Amino acid sequence: MNSLPPWRPLLRAALQREGRSSNSRWLQLATVASDGTPRVRTLVFRGWSAPTVLDLFTDGRSQKSRELTNSQDVEICWLLPRARSQFRIRSCLTRHSEAELLNLRRNHWQNLTPSARALWGWPAPGLLFEEDAEFPQELDEATPMPSHFELLSFDVIQVELLELGGQPHRRRRWLASTAWSEELLNP
Ligand SMILES: Cc1cc2nc3c(=O)[nH]c(=O)nc-3n(C[C@H](O)[C@H](O)[C@H](O)COP(=O)(O)O)c2cc1C
Repeated sequence: MNSLPPWRPLLRAALQREGRSSNSRWLQLATVASDGTPRVRTLVFRGWSAPTVLDLFTDGRSQKSRELTNSQDVEICWLLPRARSQFRIRSCLTRHSEAELLNLRRNHWQNLTPSARALWGWPAPGLLFEEDAEFPQELDEATPMPSHFELLSFDVIQVELLELGGQPHRRRRWLASTAWSEELLNP
């Protein structure tokens, strides 16, 4: 599908209301660990690579990256306070071809700012901190892309929107499997 699903303009409008606030870029990504227990953390939204494909970046040495090799199903929660809206986005990790993925990663790596790129020059996340380890503040664009610079693209399969603006609250759901037709739910 190339046209925008109905929830995309609603998300865009809620994001616009945030203006320059970080809320418009920060979302929560929940994964399932290998023992079946949940994990959740904040990530920066990096854009849409297709109408229903949401991109995030991470470190391939991180726990979440390992969790995603085990289970590709995730839920993203995006709270947009000014619009008093919560988007819950169920997705599955997209499988890119190897060549396509390399190309996309290279483009994203080039487009990062030096300070954003620097995080991938830090020691592996989650390991014990070592006093003499180096944490660069910047990496310039000539820095070769590390293999642990990971692009996570997620195919959206369901979106639920809860809006607290009116009385009663309004809750809607769209499923990819029903061509994104809207269902109204009790809040
Ligand atoms: C505001 C904010 C933005 C963040 N953005 C990212 C991001 O884009 N990618 C990422 O991998 N981690 C990001 N993090 C760090 C993660 O929340 C998390 O601590 C880290 O990725 C390790 O998670 P894991 O051990 O579950 O893999 C961000 C944290 C905060 C507070």
